[in-house]
Amino acid sequence: MSSRQAIRRLDYTPPSYLIDRVDLTFDLDDTHTKVTSRLIIRRNKDVAADAPLILHGEELQLDSVKLDGVLLSPEAYCVDDQTLTIANMPEDGILEIVTQINPSTNTSLMGLFESSGNLFTQCEAEGFRKITYYLDRPDVMAKFTTTMIADKTKYPVLLSNGNRVGEGQLDKNRHWVKWVDPFKKPSYLFALVAGRLVVLSGTHQTQSGRTINIEIYVEAGNLDKCHHALAAAQKSMAWDEERYGLEYDLDTYMIVAVSDFNMGAMENKGLNIFNTKYVLAKPETATDADFDAIDAIVAHEYFHNWTGNRVTCRDWFQLSLKEGLTVYRDQEFSSDLGSRAVQRISNVRTLRTSQFAEDAGPQAHPIRPDEYLEINNFYTMTVYEKGSEVVRMYETLLGRDGFRKGMDLYFKRHDGQAVTCDDFRAAMADANHADLTQFERWYSQAGTPRVSAQGVYNADAQTYTLTLSQSCPPTPGQEIKLPFHIPVAMGLIDRRGQDLPLQLQGEAQASAGTRVLQLREASQTFTFINVPCPPVPSLLRDFSAPVILDYAYSDDDLVFLMAHDSDAFSRWEAANTFACSLIKRLYAQAPEQAITAPEQFIAAYRQLLGNDKLDPALLALMLQLPAESYLLEQLDDVDPSRLALVCNSIKQQIARELRQELLAVYQKLNDGKPYHYGGEQVARRDLKNVCLDFLAELDEAMIGSLLADQYRKADNMTDRLAALRALVNRDGGEAQLADFASQWKDDALVMDKWFMLQATSRRKGVLNRVQSLLAHPAFSIKNPNKVRSLITSFCVLNLQHFHAADGYGYAFASEKIIELDAINPQIAARLASCFNRWKKIEPVRRELMKQELERIRDHQGLSSDTFEIVSKSLGA
Ligand code: TRP
Ligand code: ZN
Repeated sequence: MSSRQAIRRLDYTPPSYLIDRVDLTFDLDDTHTKVTSRLIIRRNKDVAADAPLILHGEELQLDSVKLDGVLLSPEAYCVDDQTLTIANMPEDGILEIVTQINPSTNTSLMGLFESSGNLFTQCEAEGFRKITYYLDRPDVMAKFTTTMIADKTKYPVLLSNGNRVGEGQLDKNRHWVKWVDPFKKPSYLFALVAGRLVVLSGTHQTQSGRTINIEIYVEAGNLDKCHHALAAAQKSMAWDEERYGLEYDLDTYMIVAVSDFNMGAMENKGLNIFNTKYVLAKPETATDADFDAIDAIVAHEYFHNWTGNRVTCRDWFQLSLKEGLTVYRDQEFSSDLGSRAVQRISNVRTLRTSQFAEDAGPQAHPIRPDEYLEINNFYTMTVYEKGSEVVRMYETLLGRDGFRKGMDLYFKRHDGQAVTCDDFRAAMADANHADLTQFERWYSQAGTPRVSAQGVYNADAQTYTLTLSQSCPPTPGQEIKLPFHIPVAMGLIDRRGQDLPLQLQGEAQASAGTRVLQLREASQTFTFINVPCPPVPSLLRDFSAPVILDYAYSDDDLVFLMAHDSDAFSRWEAANTFACSLIKRLYAQAPEQAITAPEQFIAAYRQLLGNDKLDPALLALMLQLPAESYLLEQLDDVDPSRLALVCNSIKQQIARELRQELLAVYQKLNDGKPYHYGGEQVARRDLKNVCLDFLAELDEAMIGSLLADQYRKADNMTDRLAALRALVNRDGGEAQLADFASQWKDDALVMDKWFMLQATSRRKGVLNRVQSLLAHPAFSIKNPNKVRSLITSFCVLNLQHFHAADGYGYAFASEKIIELDAINPQIAARLASCFNRWKKIEPVRRELMKQELERIRDHQGLSSDTFEIVSKSLGA
């Protein structure tokens, strides 16, 4: 376990030694793996001559150390639980270190671990030090070779980074394979896989005429679920060539699926390792959303080959350099693949429901954090999703071509280097002769900025004056914030719903379409001239900056924007704002008052449902009510049961009053055509199932049989799961739940869905159900996917039951956090963030939450991962 010493960004110093070459030999065995590491090391000329060599290492059994072929006596070095120090290291030399590790007892899933009898590694961020002693930091880049020796029957497939250069037989049924990675890399990108796996192969022809082999390795029986992932890899390669001129740089690109994995996937050079959830899919087992996610994650990991691997991070504070940029790239890929507007709206929804909460809470940090106890805790929504928004703002400010110029310069300057967020910003600025000095604040300041807007129309002068003001609330350790450089995309809409041409005072001519205003001061005024009539402003189009916009729209304005805004995102946003403000008003009413939406709201929904010109996917998004967790952020002293009551009441009212319209759309779309995954069909299924979700609010036998029919007849998981989700909330749904489990008991990923449905149900007694499911044969607390589907989804998604007034939900969470902490600290720490927003909750529950946080904090032997989350939650 690492010590509770904060690491600070400004304490960065270059490494005292550099490693040019690493030759690793693994004698693989599930309980006793022997690792021989031969390092060609030299002193870094830039640092003091007398610095000792301090290698990182954790949970290793050290067998021997040789320097230039000579065995070192134990007095020549010093070992503690985190380091191996050699005081008198010469200018340069060859170190040979032999260690032993035990993958079978490694439940943290960092370093070398076992899963379903196969062996895998996970090294990011600091897992390589659990494999061998090393300078385990990303600014030490070396060329690696890997020789693997293993039993041929147990481990027929032996994979590592780069190219396979040799293989052979040994005695005792053993064999060996040697891999050479021609590119230098930091240790976090090292990977190996050994086991019984089958492979699906395909190729990609690059623009320069090379043929790349793509190989997807999975357990036997899963080959029929790899085709979508293979196609995703092919599409990703083509897209990166087309959009950024970036080709793959090895002959083979490998993806391996593993069922025990802490996150989604990992971009190891040439050998990406994926959670099975993001590889395995066929229509019977995976939903449309699963297929989308596979496209996005395959693209993400593939894109890291340039943004992450060829150009990597100098230190872990720069994590968003690779993650924010790569999320931006995968979002753009998905936008080009499908509907740009739909992609944008769903990304913004994720940002707002999860990242805004993080940015407003005790774990708030800038996308480039200043300190951490445990780097694993900083793979956050802020670093990834807000990081992506920050990259997107460069594109908004510089234009698509300007952004591309910046990317080209970034690769030209930094290929093969470990660099910083400042280097990226400098490339963007220099390539465009732009001043991005103030833009740095997006990297250094935490918190979601608020932009408030006021508009004044002057009929005599024919001007419209827009005043934009910005502020940013304090976050832990940052009381005062300086103004950000904020691109505000906007338009002015006339009474007929047309965009007015925009001409700012001082401009010779008007221009059509959306305008990007640059807000740099605390407050700025923009005067538009030749405005013939009072306009409705459309602000923050396409969500041009990760901010909260305040503008006093009337309900009439919102209904108008929903119908007329030329920007699809803004049309959705108007619907969303309307629903949010309605729910907040009803929530604030006296409890005895009826919870009823006004006719105008229902009418807006009616109009949406009757509009058959709208893209069904956009319509589906516009109909969905805002997430409770997003609403919770906009309230104080929240009573979660009242919030749930209000949301459910509105949903029921919509279902009651628009029953005919919802049914009509449902029936029109429920056309019985065979399943096909593709834009048009996905959009139609989406809308159909959103209608179904509303209709399921009605306690009618007819709706019950409609759900049962859809469940029974579905030829695909999307429709089947949508029906089952609704059935689980009704009397009698047990039958289908049991049916589902008996059909899919052997498919772990499908069973994850089954667990999640029950954990997120609204019915009484959910917690009891969750507790009994912990003993279900398909559940295992050691498997992160299972924990996320049963435990985390209950604590994070089921606000109503997690926040049960008796506090049992909280007690359950803390008990599981403590239990998990001893097994897998990363997963425990993630779960612990379910308590983050305790200060937002009403006083009685708040106190109960605080007590559970204290109980976790005071638990003996708590990991630094969980300790960091819990202690920050409790505050100083
Ligand atoms: N770099 C990976 C990605 O975003 C994520 C990652 C970081 C990861 N640490 C991990 C994955 C640990 C699995 C386990 O693509
Ligand atoms: Zn990533």
